[in-house]
Amino acid sequence: MCGIVGCVAKEDCYGKLLSALEKLEYRGYDSAGIALLSAGGKIAVRKKKGAVANLFGAPVAGSAGIGHTRWATHGKPSDENAHPHVAGKFALVHNGIVENFAALKAELCAAGETFASETDSEVIVKLIARLYRGDFFGAVQAACERLEGAYAVAVLCEDFPDEIVCAKRRSPLIAGAGCGAAYVCSDVPALCGAAAFVCPVEDGEFVHIRGCEICFKRADGSAVPKVFCRLAEEEKGAERAAGSRMEAEIAEIPRGLSRTLGWLRACDFAPAARALRGAGRLFTVACGTAHHAALAFGNLLAREARIPVLCETASEFRYGDPLIGAGDVLVAVSQSGETADTLEAVRLARERGAYVIAVTNAEHSTLARLADLPLRTLAGAEVAVAATKSYNCQLLALYYLAAQTVFFKRAAFPAWFPALEGAAPACERAFGCFEQVADLAERLREKPAMYYIGRGTDRFTAAEGALKVREIAYLFAESCPAGELKHGTLALVEEGFPVFAVATARALAAKTANSLAEAKARGAFTALFSQEDFAGGADFSCRLPALPEALMPLVSVIPLQYFACRMCLLRGFDPDRPRNLAKSVTVE
Ligand code: AGP
Repeated sequence: MCGIVGCVAKEDCYGKLLSALEKLEYRGYDSAGIALLSAGGKIAVRKKKGAVANLFGAPVAGSAGIGHTRWATHGKPSDENAHPHVAGKFALVHNGIVENFAALKAELCAAGETFASETDSEVIVKLIARLYRGDFFGAVQAACERLEGAYAVAVLCEDFPDEIVCAKRRSPLIAGAGCGAAYVCSDVPALCGAAAFVCPVEDGEFVHIRGCEICFKRADGSAVPKVFCRLAEEEKGAERAAGSRMEAEIAEIPRGLSRTLGWLRACDFAPAARALRGAGRLFTVACGTAHHAALAFGNLLAREARIPVLCETASEFRYGDPLIGAGDVLVAVSQSGETADTLEAVRLARERGAYVIAVTNAEHSTLARLADLPLRTLAGAEVAVAATKSYNCQLLALYYLAAQTVFFKRAAFPAWFPALEGAAPACERAFGCFEQVADLAERLREKPAMYYIGRGTDRFTAAEGALKVREIAYLFAESCPAGELKHGTLALVEEGFPVFAVATARALAAKTANSLAEAKARGAFTALFSQEDFAGGADFSCRLPALPEALMPLVSVIPLQYFACRMCLLRGFDPDRPRNLAKSVTVE
């Protein structure tokens, strides 16, 4: 959801900004832009609709600069709506949404201002320029006081070479220090290889960069003491040899699982024991893929620990006036740790006194900082918009947490707990089905729609498989519990309509096979994903590597992830950059 970067560096500031922007591009690729402030005190802007690559060319001179990659909220993708926006002596990049922008714009228009773009962001830079009386920091601070909504901004001023002023509320911002360079950036991975130390910016704080000095400030201008931490190796993304990021990230699943397990083994769950042991109710909040992982966790935990688990999609949680309070535990799951809906749900739960456990792939994220117990997944930076390896690692962390909860309740770990050690090799073995799955995709490439079914935990895997296909192959794909098929959806089935069934729960497999047979009897093309060979006569059958049943979602999703990726490629799309979507959804 837009990425911003700011950099002050004597050498190759333009190159440093471009390099960070390329890594930030997954946050939005509608347009990109850079502004550089030259030693002579003039701002030069290069911005274009489309990819960051459009900015390549002769470097723009300057030792202080800001950059932006856009996911459009206000105004279509165009050169004019691309950031940076300029007013008087100022240039600005913004991530977030200014909710009162219409009122502010009307006020500025009445005062004689004219606007070059349709964005909410231009309002901020116009405000700064009007409020400026020679005090750079003061003008940014005063403008921010007028804003409602979410923002992370980085601003240049022609009167202050080698300086950048930044502000943050509810949109992520990180400060980074590298060799001869000072940075601000929307996320940590974009600074890999550039900054050696990073420090997250908290809501309401400002960052004032002067040369290589990075000063955190409060609104009154007083300094906030901060400790920077070393940038960890695992923040780096998957190395891409050939093909798409998504394929590289699927290939990284076993490595991510091993590293996540290593981290979890060393994690001290003792502080959480009281909350988990006495938990009246357990809630989960998450969005999209992370919600599917949370649903699998909730299903497992309710069965094993015999406590009610309520899994809610984060965007609905706070509007439902949830029955959450002191004594309850909320588990929030988010790859990025910056999803606005998830963060708002967590803030509400905290206000009401609940204990918060976060599962996130981003160590320095807002979510990790909000939680009482941050649990890490070490999938490595995930760049493709479609989540893959982060999902498998979320499942692993959540199963580990479920096992700890069972232990705190019953003084014994569940029988499947030791088998978590075998998850990574089992996933590696699941890659063995890729050739077969690629053939399946070839066979179904012209189909306009498909359906996924499953029972028990398998229905969440089915939902995840369908989401992947919608997201990157742009096909209508939906899922339902297998037993629901005959209550309505079966009406969609006609000759050749693909129905995929995930059937890894032995007690339910025969029933799922029946549902599949009912679809086949009506002409469906049926595909079965199971660790068992059971009768049913599906048109396509994929044999999954076996793990204890409770853990099967860790492997059963892999062929579905790969299938979506193949379908996308066969249909001529880029799996890493699906239309209309962005990786990190930092607006509500
Ligand atoms: C998954 O493929 C999607 N890109 C999306 O559903 C994603 O999982 C969701 O936006 C949540 O993101 P988060 O895990 O970073 O919170």
